[in-house]
Amino acid sequence: MNMAIEPLRHLAPTSAPAPHRAEPPVGPTIQIDPARIRDLTARESVRLDARTQASATAYERAKRSLVGGVSSSYQKRAPWPIYLDRGQGQYVWDVDGHQYLDVHNGIGSMVQGHAHPLITEAVDRRIRLGSHFAAPTEDTYIVSEHLAARWGLPRWRFVNSGSEATMDAIRIARGVTGRDGVMKIFGSYHGHHDYVMVDIGLSVYEGTDREHYPSIAYGKGIPDSVTQMTIAVPFNDAGVLERRLVELQGEGRLPACLIMEAAMMNCGVILPEPGYLAEVRRITKKFGVVWIVDEVKTGLTVAAGGATELFGIKPDLVCLAKALGAGIPTGAIGGSDEMWSMVDSGEVYMVGTFNGNPLAMAAARANLERVMTPEAYAHLGRLNDQLLDGAQGIIDRYKLAAYAVGIESKGVITFAQSKVVDYDSYKTAQQKELIDLVWLWNMNRGIFSTPGRDEEWTLSITMTPADADHYLGVFEELAAELTR
Ligand SMILES: Cc1ncc(COP(=O)(O)O)c(C=O)c1O
Repeated sequence: MNMAIEPLRHLAPTSAPAPHRAEPPVGPTIQIDPARIRDLTARESVRLDARTQASATAYERAKRSLVGGVSSSYQKRAPWPIYLDRGQGQYVWDVDGHQYLDVHNGIGSMVQGHAHPLITEAVDRRIRLGSHFAAPTEDTYIVSEHLAARWGLPRWRFVNSGSEATMDAIRIARGVTGRDGVMKIFGSYHGHHDYVMVDIGLSVYEGTDREHYPSIAYGKGIPDSVTQMTIAVPFNDAGVLERRLVELQGEGRLPACLIMEAAMMNCGVILPEPGYLAEVRRITKKFGVVWIVDEVKTGLTVAAGGATELFGIKPDLVCLAKALGAGIPTGAIGGSDEMWSMVDSGEVYMVGTFNGNPLAMAAARANLERVMTPEAYAHLGRLNDQLLDGAQGIIDRYKLAAYAVGIESKGVITFAQSKVVDYDSYKTAQQKELIDLVWLWNMNRGIFSTPGRDEEWTLSITMTPADADHYLGVFEELAAELTR
């Protein structure tokens, strides 16, 4: 099959999307008594425990053979994780039989909704033809053609996860530049390999020098020599980036790459300030630093061509995963001919048994060709507007110290009196007790969000305006309860 693949773009590249107000409140806000938050949290916690007794039983059994009762420590939760039974469209059901509207969506992966019939059909057809060869199949280059058209980056390779994508992208940047150092954004998450498990999940943000964050490993088991190769700079601050690169150049230790998200996720949603991304492009070019844009979360969820399209940027390398495989593990790296030259020549190794796995490629192809269409993105945009506008209306009516912010399928209610622009302000401005309460409150009212404080919502194309109304109704109930 030899059809030309046209770029699928529903938005002309712009320098910035039109985000929701994304500004903290200007008028007076209501101070919520911390004791009230504590009481409500305790009440909701007891209620959730009572509702999820089958999960408690599953946990008792699972933890004996499965460490912490889960496969990834991000799935851990006290007193037990909520075990799921199945998903269909925009809903999931737990092992107690409760139905939830899913805005967790597999940590931001299932923008297609669960068990989408077109994905199910593609995977079913492929598995009957053999699901793994470690040899290329037609779908592999069709999918890379689609990604090239969507991202405007000519050449691609596949991996199996977001972590593999960022790990290999860093190796490529090191090969191309002949340098070892990695620069990242303070507080940003790029997966679980050693090079990027640095300066995340920290509590050293208060009082630290923004120009010189210490390089701190995220947990034990990461060699200090590797940790010290990674240097963090704050998001939304091109001045610090440029000054730090000047310094590092003077010390003869310019990094190979800057890896970052165009809009920071995993801290709610932090949008780039106007002009910031253009400055990052200029500065990285000036110092010959490879600009890797991690689109593991934004890719396929915020526009057909991800944040690259939405913000009209031109990275050197892009990393995808999560939503690409529509629930089948896969990931991808895209870049220019120049970036791929050393992989082409064999000087840089980029290998993997399951890279471009036929099942994942069949799912990705159906996803790109038939599911995540321009109409699907338009629907996501409308739903997100409904949620963000509705949430902002509730915030204003109840005078909460909060604001709603998001892009396309992603969004969050940021409980802060001042604007969150980077990790420092995320950690210091946010009223974190409220975030914990919101999660419990939502779970007890049929909304499944990601446990923990950092996650934004991810909508799916199967969600309806009535589902968005349900979400807003639950939030309004909480706002009324808090301000009573
Ligand atoms: C921005 C970002 N990059 C990379 C990753 C790692 O992806 P994975 O968990 O598939 O390895 C994640 C995971 O949440 C992520 O949010």
